[in-house]
Amino acid sequence: MDLDDTAARLGVPVEDVDRVHRLAGDRTSAPLPARADAPAILDRLAVRPDDAAEIMAGWPDPGSPLWTPELRWLLDRSIALVRADLGGHGWLPPGPALPRDRGPAWRHLYVYAYLALVDVAREYHHDHGIPDAVSWATLADLGRNLAIDRRMHREGWPVMQSWLTLHVRGGLYELGRLQHHRGDTAIELHIPESGPLTPEAVEASLDEARAFFPRHFPDEHYTAFSCGSWLLDPQLREYLPGDSNIVRFQQRFALEPYEEPEGLNADVEALRFVFRSLTTPLDQLPRRTALQRAIVDHLTAGRHWHWRRGRFPI
Ligand SMILES: CC(C)(COP(=O)(O)OP(=O)(O)OC[C@H]1O[C@@H](n2cnc3c(N)ncnc32)[C@H](O)[C@@H]1OP(=O)(O)O)[C@@H](O)C(=O)NCCC(=O)NCCS
Repeated sequence: MDLDDTAARLGVPVEDVDRVHRLAGDRTSAPLPARADAPAILDRLAVRPDDAAEIMAGWPDPGSPLWTPELRWLLDRSIALVRADLGGHGWLPPGPALPRDRGPAWRHLYVYAYLALVDVAREYHHDHGIPDAVSWATLADLGRNLAIDRRMHREGWPVMQSWLTLHVRGGLYELGRLQHHRGDTAIELHIPESGPLTPEAVEASLDEARAFFPRHFPDEHYTAFSCGSWLLDPQLREYLPGDSNIVRFQQRFALEPYEEPEGLNADVEALRFVFRSLTTPLDQLPRRTALQRAIVDHLTAGRHWHWRRGRFPI
């Protein structure tokens, strides 16, 4: 295979194609579900009708003219790459960010990879005795992310395509309000967009995790919950009331000293999660809520948000 030619045809840097080639090697791929079963699976994965229609329109049927040999190669090797790390919990890009405006095959290539890996993940969950309800609640983050990406006019996907490899490798579990991400000694918490972050919902989710990990991952020994987020920035307390859910969530954590994180810009992350837009000028963003006003006023004043890490004992 000519990597340069493949990269040019895919419109991506050759290093990215080389990475897929090296990491996937001749590892085993996994088949997609049958087309006839796909609508029901997409429904279980909380994929909304508009996204499901696009996914079905680009389905990689054998012989489909939408699927060039390069796209088929990337789909197959991306599945193999992610599958090779089954059980892993590190950050794993499934392949290069594609020019997604070239059509549904390009736009949703990593969604098809995800669909191929659903059965692989389900088997892994089954081997760990993980209940069906947790398995599906976890995997249904696909639909939530696709809907958010649509709201973001497709600006969100480059991060989401890597994020979603955690779910299909068995690295992350949605237990009630929070997503719990396996780590070395700490369970990393993530907060999906699914309603208010009440202290009661948080406590219930932590309690679930306290029972879940010893039961399903008895060889892993967790001593703390941890989190890295713009939500943990103490500067938010200049703007939000002390009894807001965000401030009360912050109060659980002992923060690590601030360090500029590599490859992450907290200003961008705050815009992503509060406005679901990375490109709207500050003076055109809505100012309906206390948090929206906080984010905009802080940036307009020339200040910056900080990505903070913290933890508390299990
Ligand atoms: C985290 C989250 C659930 C907190 O929401 P919450 O429970 O309503 O938070 P609070 O009670 O502290 O809200 C305080 C104020 O901020 C507003 N607010 C909170 N989150 C907001 C958001 N994402 N967008 C706009 N406004 C928001 C609230 O409406 C409230 O303002 P108001 O009193 O003027 O109505 C919410 O921000 C969210 O869904 N975020 C997206 C996911 C995310 O950020 N994950 C972390 C990724 S690192």
